[in-house]
Amino acid sequence: MATIRDLGLVIGLMMAFFMASIVFADPDMLQDVCVAILKPAVAVNGFPCKNITDISANNFFFAGLVKPGLTNNALGVNVTQANVNQIPGLNTLGVSMARIDYAPGGLNPPHVHPRATEIVFVLTGELNVGFVNTDNKLFSKTIKAGEVFIFPRGLLHFQINNGKVPAAVIAGFNSQFPGTQRVADALFASSPKIDNGVLAKTFKIGTNLVEEIKFNLGPKM
Ligand SMILES: *[C@@H]1O[C@H](CO)[C@@H](O)[C@H](O)[C@H]1NC(C)=O
Ligand SMILES: *[C@@H]1O[C@H](CO)[C@@H](O)[C@H](O)[C@H]1NC(C)=O
Repeated sequence: MATIRDLGLVIGLMMAFFMASIVFADPDMLQDVCVAILKPAVAVNGFPCKNITDISANNFFFAGLVKPGLTNNALGVNVTQANVNQIPGLNTLGVSMARIDYAPGGLNPPHVHPRATEIVFVLTGELNVGFVNTDNKLFSKTIKAGEVFIFPRGLLHFQINNGKVPAAVIAGFNSQFPGTQRVADALFASSPKIDNGVLAKTFKIGTNLVEEIKFNLGPKM
């Protein structure tokens, strides 16, 4: 005999299933594939599809993650993207990847991905990683080769290589184009610039220090 409690359980399970099924980042697709026309004449959400007669296996292929990116830059990090812009076949599929290489001491500075959760798999080396939730609680851990860590969609996160050898990860995203916003650049290197008074008051510092940070993050001659 089905009781009210059983019915409640069934409805609860159905709701849980419904909620789970709507947790995706990019719009669901309506055909097998929709290989992106990357420079379309009209603006749409994502990209319009190439004619099926014009697509091939190469539209679903990318060799750009084979080699480490060069890390001889100020932050000691190189993010090599493998999203819809590099792999047009990803259009409407709701996933993408990246390879991130870190020199010893290399930092992927605090940033957010507005459209995707990220899962990193460590290829080599060891990293200290973390994200901060909306209660400003830090979730941090040291991860090494073969281990994975998750950065939930939209939350501030970073990775740093505190080790003495290079490190590398493969990152997976549930968006064809996750988007990246580096917090320091968004605040101090936007164009046009955010008013010094806004930043001075936000950080409880003088405008001279704001100027110094803007100069340090700005384009170098
Ligand atoms: C796709 O290309 C084929 C061959 O050129 C053409 O016959 C067909 O009309 C095209 N389809 C669309 C939707 O443009
Ligand atoms: C990342 O590495 C590639 C080569 O693998 C290089 O062309 C590019 O300039 C590097 N980017 C940065 C920010 O160093």
